[in-house]
Amino acid sequence: MTTLTPVLTANWDQANSFTLDGYGGDYGAARKALGMDPDAVIQAVKDSGLRGRGGAGFPTGMKWGFIPQGDGKPHYLVVNADESEPGTCKDIPLMMANPHSLVEGVIITSYAIRANHAFIYVRGEVLHVIRRLHAAVREAYEKGYLGTDIFGSGYNLELVVHSGAGAYICGEETALLDSLEGFRGQPRLKPPFPAVAGLYASPTVVNNVESIASVPSIIGNGAEWFAGMGTEKSKGFGIFSLSGHVTRPGQYEAPLGITLRELLDMAGGIRAGHQIKFWTPGGSSTPIFTDEHLDVPLDFEAVGAKGSMLGTRALQIFDETTCVVRTVLRWTEFYAHESCGKCTPCREGTYWLKQVLKRLEQGQGSEEDLATITDIADNILGRSFCALGDGATSPIHSSVKYFREEYLKHFEIGGCPFDPKKSTLWSEQ
Ligand SMILES: Cc1cc2nc3c(=O)[nH]c(=O)nc-3n(C[C@H](O)[C@H](O)[C@H](O)COP(=O)(O)O)c2cc1C
Ligand code: SF4
Repeated sequence: MTTLTPVLTANWDQANSFTLDGYGGDYGAARKALGMDPDAVIQAVKDSGLRGRGGAGFPTGMKWGFIPQGDGKPHYLVVNADESEPGTCKDIPLMMANPHSLVEGVIITSYAIRANHAFIYVRGEVLHVIRRLHAAVREAYEKGYLGTDIFGSGYNLELVVHSGAGAYICGEETALLDSLEGFRGQPRLKPPFPAVAGLYASPTVVNNVESIASVPSIIGNGAEWFAGMGTEKSKGFGIFSLSGHVTRPGQYEAPLGITLRELLDMAGGIRAGHQIKFWTPGGSSTPIFTDEHLDVPLDFEAVGAKGSMLGTRALQIFDETTCVVRTVLRWTEFYAHESCGKCTPCREGTYWLKQVLKRLEQGQGSEEDLATITDIADNILGRSFCALGDGATSPIHSSVKYFREEYLKHFEIGGCPFDPKKSTLWSEQ
C-alpha cells in the first residue's frame, strides 16, 4: 500500500477550506440522506463497516441502531470533540480545516437517529477551532442547512457548539455528558449506556468527530465504496497522525491496514541519521511498539494481536536518543494529573506510579521498584472505574516488557544514561 486516500483531508491545502465554498458542496450527501428513510441511512453506515474513530472501534451503524424508536423521548447526538490524548492530533486539525464535513455528518446522523438536537463538545483550549466551528455552524444556519424544515424535508435540527474546560476525562463519553449537563465531569456507572439513558437521561449517540465527519462520504459515494478500502474487519480510511522524530510529521489519511513502514516512507523516514526506537500505535494509552512492529498492519485486529491497540492512530515516533523511562514518567505525570479521583485504584495508583518512576528516572531506584510499578499497574488494570486507569498502565507494562535493561541501567549508573553528564548516549554504551 503506497497511496494515501485523502477524503477528509482532501481540501486542507486550500486557503478557504474551512468555508462552505471551500468545502465545495451544497451538502449533497445530507440532501440525499434526508430523502431516504432514516433506517436506510443507518443500514448504509452498517454496511460500510465504519467503526468508531475515537479509539475503541465500536461499529458506528450498530451504535445508532441501539437508539430505541417510538419511545416518545427526545434523542440526542453528541459529538466528542474533546481530543486530549497525548499524541492524538486529528480531530482538531480536521475541525480547523474542514469543519463542514463534521456539520454535514451531524445533520445526517441526527436525522438517522431521529434527533432534533445535536451538540459538539469541543476541548476548551482550542479557541481557534471553536471559532471555526461557530463560523461553520453559522454559515450552515444561514443557508438553511440547520434549523427548521431543512432542504424542505420537514426535518428540524438545532446544533450547539459547547466548549469544555480542558479535562482529559471529559473525553470519556459519560463524563462528557455530565459535563455537558453542567456537572463536574466524572464517568457514570454503565449500564445504563448512553443509547438508553444518555444526555438528560434520554437516548443519546456519542460519536467521535472523525466518525461523524466520515458519514457524508459514505452516504455520498455508497457503503461499498467505503468498504472497498481497508481490511476485512477494519474498513475504510482513517487519519494517521505522525509526530516526533519524523522528517515530515503530520496527518496522513490512508486505508486502515497500512503499516508504519509505509507511512514512514511517505513521511521521509525517521529524522536524518537516526533510527526508530519505540512508538505508540494509538496514543499514549496504547502499549508501545518497537522496530519489530514496523510491518504490523495498522488495523484493529492486527495491532490487537501484537499486544497493543489501534486507538486513535496517534503514531508518536521516538528515536534512539530518547530515554524510555523519562517518556513513561512524562505520560504517567499526565495520567496522575488527569485522574478524576472517583476511584481508588486510578487515583492512588497513578500518584504512586509517578513517585516511583521519578525515583527510577533519577537513578535512585532499585530492581524492587520495577516490581513495584508492575504491581501497581496490575492493580489499576481492570480494576478502575473507567478506561483512563487502564490506559495509564499501558506505557508501564509495555516499556518494562521491551526495555527492562534500560530501567536497570538507570540505577546501575545512578542516573539517566541519556544525560550527557552521567554517561554517553545509550546507543554508544
Ligand atoms: C479518558 C478517556 C478519554 C477519551 N477521550 C476521547 C476523546 O477525546 N474523543 C473521543 O472521540 N473519544 C474519547 N474517548 C472515547 C469515548 O469514551 C467514546 O468511546 C467515543 O467518543 C465513542 O465514539 P466513536 O464510537 O465514534 O469512536 C475517551 C475515553 C476515555 C476513557
Ligand atoms: S479510572 Fe481514573 S479517571 Fe476513571 S473514574 Fe477512576 S479515578 Fe476517574
